Amino acid sequence: MKKIRMKIEGERGYDILVGHNILHKIGQHIKPLHLGNSAFIITSPTIGKLYLKPLVQGLKSAGFKNIQTNLVPDGEKFKSFSSYQRLMGQMLKFSGNGEKKIFIINMGGGVIGDLGGFVAATFKRGTDYIQVPTTLLAFVDCGIGGKTGIDFNGVKNIVGAFHQPKLVYADLSLLKTLNKREMKSGFAEVVKYGVIHSPTFFEFIENNIDKVFSLDKKVIEQIAVQSYSIKADIVRKDEFDTKGIRMQLNYGHTIGHAVESASRYAYRHGEAISLGMVCANDIAVKLGILEKDTSARIESLLIKIGLPVRIKNHNIDEIMNFFWRDKKFVNGKNRFVMATKIGKTKIIEDIQARIITDVIRNRFSSI
Ligand SMILES: NC(=O)c1ccc[n+]([C@@H]2O[C@H](COP(=O)([O-])OP(=O)(O)OC[C@H]3O[C@@H](n4cnc5c(N)ncnc54)[C@H](O)[C@@H]3O)[C@@H](O)[C@H]2O)c1
Repeated sequence: MKKIRMKIEGERGYDILVGHNILHKIGQHIKPLHLGNSAFIITSPTIGKLYLKPLVQGLKSAGFKNIQTNLVPDGEKFKSFSSYQRLMGQMLKFSGNGEKKIFIINMGGGVIGDLGGFVAATFKRGTDYIQVPTTLLAFVDCGIGGKTGIDFNGVKNIVGAFHQPKLVYADLSLLKTLNKREMKSGFAEVVKYGVIHSPTFFEFIENNIDKVFSLDKKVIEQIAVQSYSIKADIVRKDEFDTKGIRMQLNYGHTIGHAVESASRYAYRHGEAISLGMVCANDIAVKLGILEKDTSARIESLLIKIGLPVRIKNHNIDEIMNFFWRDKKFVNGKNRFVMATKIGKTKIIEDIQARIITDVIRNRFSSI
């Protein structure tokens, strides 16, 4: 088992434990954290069917007696206020109207992680929680860093809070049941880390794609550990996203989120981010801050992975409508993270709307 430490000021730092076939041992790693004896598990019916048994057994064998499981249906549309409200009601009951100390375990992809994290952030103004990621995207990105939230009135992640978990427990063997589309989607965030932070990692991804899809243990572990280390380093420097450092993680997300929302989530998150990355690169090339060859290199890696680089079923007005609702914009000024080289980024503000719409239109698929 590998351990990466998320170093955050005060007592809020935590371990990210990474290994294979470790789910049944989770209890023994939670016990020393002294989070109490009552675990409130949030997962989905699909994931629950596959992995609830080893999780519950792992808790029971470490002496946890009081365990309640709560299922949230699959899909981004359940990262919602009504799921939040329902979970809050169940937590209130489980905790005896807040009198008993409880902790939360979120086992799932980014939807469960974000929703359950937000429940944890707000129940009694902050309840301890543990992330057990189960998708590649959640392993490498959403499981860590403490950004929690729900979508509201069609706007992604508009209601949320920062709340760090007490432990991230990453059993990579859970990926064996994840379908190929979800694996590819998660890969978009892995590519993002290479582009924003590390030419060596980018090259490693270029050379090892096939091994990821054949679930080569060593390669998957290296991808996870490297991604965690990059994200941990960025979060450590700018936990609350106020210094312009954590913002780098939004590379590809400005247009990506708009495309994702306009598609009514027909695009998986990573697919939309792939589209957002190529659009951001197109703008950067137009502005003369990114070489055409570098942009082509990133695009060909995305294509090799099987991620989309052309937008289907498009409607520019709807995309732009969502684009302008981005919560990262300040005083109506748009804000982009641009790659200027592999491993280097720059934040650019207030790009002309005409340039943005032209770039998005040029990425529309003709079929
Ligand atoms: N908080 C953050 O820092 C952060 C970062 C990136 C993305 N996100 C959020 O993450 C969400 C997307 O997450 P996602 O891509 O993980 O999707 P998801 O949570 O919707 O999961 C995708 C599907 O895979 C299934 N699944 C999950 N694990 C499985 C497994 N091991 N085997 C078989 N099936 C499995 C689920 O049941 C679900 O149907 C978005 O809402 C996005 O905004 C958050």
